[in-house]
Amino acid sequence: MKTTLSSASAGETRRIGEALGKLLEVGDVVLLSGQLGAGKTVFVQGLATGLGYEGTVSSKSFVLLGEYKGKITLYHADLYRLDQPEQVDDLALEELVVDGAVAVEWPERGGSRLPEEHLVVQFEVDSAETRTLSLDPKGQRAVRLSEGLMAAAG
Ligand SMILES: Nc1ncnc2c1ncn2[C@@H]1O[C@H](COP(=O)(O)OP(=O)(O)OP(=O)(O)O)[C@@H](O)[C@H]1O
Ligand SMILES: [Mg+2]
Repeated sequence: MKTTLSSASAGETRRIGEALGKLLEVGDVVLLSGQLGAGKTVFVQGLATGLGYEGTVSSKSFVLLGEYKGKITLYHADLYRLDQPEQVDDLALEELVVDGAVAVEWPERGGSRLPEEHLVVQFEVDSAETRTLSLDPKGQRAVRLSEGLMAAAG
């Protein structure tokens, strides 16, 4: 199955995120990997919109956790500034995932402390305006999300 999506603009990345946001349910975990400026936060803006949230989604560089209440709550964590993976425990992710969906930027900074079942969206920067998004699902629910997103936006 094809698991990559191309984006030619920030707006397109936002729309892909929105398509995934419409599919999100309580318990879903989306990990967003890719270099600075790749489009992870833009994607989360789309996720929030897809869930019906109408406020602003900002870069979480200083605030570790954002909370957006739409149809369900989306928790948005950015681990870029973590010094040690153990600090992920302070976020109490296992409590958040029973209450809403969770999107995590810079998941690699959390080491092995993130939920085992998750959908990875890996961002590659191809040029100033183009990105390749690769989906890597772990677990059955993530596979369904991945298939749903490819059907909606592929
Ligand atoms: N196809 C594209 N998809 C997403 N963003 C794009 C695209 N083309 C250009 N951009 C621009 O790239 C930037 C992406 O910024 P964003 O904050 O989403 O990155 P990020 O991956 O969250 O970075 P950080 O690791 O610093 O949090 C924005 O300025 C956006 O306008
Ligand atoms: Mg970001």
